[in-house]
Amino acid sequence: MFSFSNSDMFSRRCVWVNGPVIVGAGPSGLAVAAGLKDQGVPFVILERADCIASLWQRRTYDRLKLHLPKRFCQLPNLPFPEHFPEYPSKRQFIEYLESYAAHFDINPQFNECVQSAKYDEACRLWRVKTVTNTGSEVEYICQYLVVATGENAERSGENYRGKKVLVVGCGNSGMEVSLDLCNHDAKPTMVVRSSVHVLPREIFGKSTFELAMFMMKWLPLWLVDKVMLVFAWTILGNTANYGLKRPVVGPLELKNNHGKTPVLDIGALEKIRSREIQVVPGIKKFSCGMVELVNGEKLEIDSVVLATGYCSNVPYWLQETEFFSKNGFPKAPFPNGWKGKGGLYAVGFTRRGLSGVSADAMKISQDIGNVWKDELKQKKQKVPTHRRCISTF
Ligand SMILES: Cc1cc2nc3c(=O)[nH]c(=O)nc-3n(C[C@H](O)[C@H](O)[C@H](O)COP(=O)(O)OP(=O)(O)OC[C@H]3O[C@@H](n4cnc5c(N)ncnc54)[C@H](O)[C@@H]3O)c2cc1C
Ligand SMILES: NC(=O)c1ccc[n+]([C@@H]2O[C@H](COP(=O)([O-])OP(=O)(O)OC[C@H]3O[C@@H](n4cnc5c(N)ncnc54)[C@H](OP(=O)(O)O)[C@@H]3O)[C@@H](O)[C@H]2O)c1
Repeated sequence: MFSFSNSDMFSRRCVWVNGPVIVGAGPSGLAVAAGLKDQGVPFVILERADCIASLWQRRTYDRLKLHLPKRFCQLPNLPFPEHFPEYPSKRQFIEYLESYAAHFDINPQFNECVQSAKYDEACRLWRVKTVTNTGSEVEYICQYLVVATGENAERSGENYRGKKVLVVGCGNSGMEVSLDLCNHDAKPTMVVRSSVHVLPREIFGKSTFELAMFMMKWLPLWLVDKVMLVFAWTILGNTANYGLKRPVVGPLELKNNHGKTPVLDIGALEKIRSREIQVVPGIKKFSCGMVELVNGEKLEIDSVVLATGYCSNVPYWLQETEFFSKNGFPKAPFPNGWKGKGGLYAVGFTRRGLSGVSADAMKISQDIGNVWKDELKQKKQKVPTHRRCISTF
């Protein structure tokens, strides 16, 4: 990597990166970086926060645990420590990620937020512009761009303990936040505007996810869905009795086709049954200290927690429309959404959690590694055209 001043800018530094720029130092960025290290490919990771895995360190609630068994959540080439429980806590997961970064000697550039990234057709290079937390601007120029900013980049919400709290949303976050509030003597009311699949986290002592994955090896998806729903009904009863209607489409089909994750229940349903968590229909309007629901009911509330989901922030900064769609996810469905044209890659957009992250990361680092080795051979023979192009800036 070398840097020089850009003549048309007063304060912007221009940095040539010998290898890929990875945007984001969450699990996805770290997993790709580890694979590249393994192959001796240099890279730069840009991270807007001041730490790795900022989603986990800064924007999740304390009681959070992985909701899938640890073997489905580990990143390539470094398993979780054996003494970690089957469902590691948030703290343990962060500890694991810190040790992952240390093990592979990954050192992201923190406090540097990517503002834009654009492919320069003339030079056949990516131009990635960042702003640091001190306000200085940097432009990185590179051949490969790895988008690792997460499916869950943007969200709002606060901790409102000890109050009448309206929790908007009944996904895994809404359920777990409601449970948490309940456990802290708050009075949560959860808004369920449509339908939701609630499944037990475990069935007969086995992870529900693992059981579903196992059955999918032998049975078609629709049949696995039916079996899962029979189990769910037997263990949890009819959730519609508590205001949680099930979608018409089965849980796995809904996840595969619409990206909607089923709730893996870890205790919220019990609190809903005992009415410690109230379930109400959609919101019509808010007024001072009150909310009016679509059924005409009015409730007094002290606070509102938005657990309405996350979204990708890729459309805000990546100036590209061929590979990514407007919703910030690759257009090509899994397993083809990891590689675009012109050295563009995407990791962690499969809606398949950390196992999807690992699968993408291994393909990407392998692919870049192969191209890298070929180019090294060629570079020995001639000066590459992109270097000539850079020197004209
Ligand atoms: C609450 C919660 C619990 C989850 N639990 C599980 C689970 O148990 N098992 C499972 O398999 N999956 C789980 N997931 C899904 C998924 O595995 C995680 O979201 C995981 O963190 C995804 O990793 P990532 O690196 O792709 O994204 P992130 O963890 O979101 O990391 C992206 C990084 O990019 C940085 N970034 C974003 N924009 C920019 C920018 N413009 N410039 C520079 N940096 C930027 C962010 O600061 C962040 O550090 C969970 C998700 C959530 C939200
Ligand atoms: N323990 C864990 O590992 C854990 C914990 C939390 C989250 N996660 C993961 O994180 C990801 C995001 O989960 P999430 O629960 O934050 O989001 P989510 O699954 O997208 O759920 C968002 C919820 O908000 C509702 N909603 C959105 N807008 C609304 C509105 N205007 N009024 C009322 N309701 C509204 C949605 O209802 P509709 O369905 O009607 O749109 C849905 O119920 C998932 O992959 C999840 O598995 C994991």
